[in-house]
Amino acid sequence: MSRLSKRQKWVLNGQMERVLEPQLPVPGDECFENRGHWATRCFAKDRPITLELGCGKGTFSVELARSFPERNFVGVDIKGHRFYTGAQQAEDLGLDNLVFLRAQIQQIERYFGPGEVSEIWLTFSDPQPKDGKGTKRITSGRFVERYRKLCQPGGIVHIKTDSPLVYGLALEELGPNFLYQTEDVHGPWLQTVPEPLRSLLAFQTPYEKRWIAEGRKIAYLSLAL
Ligand SMILES: C[S@@+](CC[C@H](N)C(=O)[O-])C[C@H]1O[C@@H](n2cnc3c(N)ncnc32)[C@H](O)[C@@H]1O
Repeated sequence: MSRLSKRQKWVLNGQMERVLEPQLPVPGDECFENRGHWATRCFAKDRPITLELGCGKGTFSVELARSFPERNFVGVDIKGHRFYTGAQQAEDLGLDNLVFLRAQIQQIERYFGPGEVSEIWLTFSDPQPKDGKGTKRITSGRFVERYRKLCQPGGIVHIKTDSPLVYGLALEELGPNFLYQTEDVHGPWLQTVPEPLRSLLAFQTPYEKRWIAEGRKIAYLSLAL
């Protein structure tokens, strides 16, 4: 099959049940209609919700949803044509526990209510090297304070990155109490991690594959909120 254009993917997204593309940005003081009601309005069952923020093609979200049928997942990205791939896979696999949401992560509190989320994955987030204040880098302390509002107490934030800047700033801004931290997730360290986290960390996102092919090390850390 020939490659689809962005425009074709946008059109196809509009026909998929698992894709949510509300108005952007959320206007005025409004909130997205599912906020506080995800379990009943969007998913077949009321189960803990995990977000992948900046999910790109959404292949890791698909892996999460396949691995944990007893949980619900939302892949979030501003670029709908990217997560078309994951949405199509979710449809083909009949995953009823995964949806994709087009949204600006800066507005994430307008989409999820207090305590509605149990885990967040930040995979290969853009480093935003000029963003000294952390207003764009979605792994910054500012953003994690936002995530704290959405998450249940003890909710977990996972950061996986090829960027020494993202990793270094996360150590500085979010530490010192991490659940796990490593500068080389695919090295011998991985064998010390219990399942199912070990298998999840072994899974490689499209960006990760590219960076590994270039010889870069992949770092990971996680913290409980
Ligand atoms: C480097 S890509 C990583 C994609 C994917 N996580 C992976 O590992 O293959 C970063 C993604 O984050 C998205 N993104 C960056 N900033 C965002 C924001 N403020 N709101 C929503 N999406 C954002 C981009 O559109 C892009 O798809």
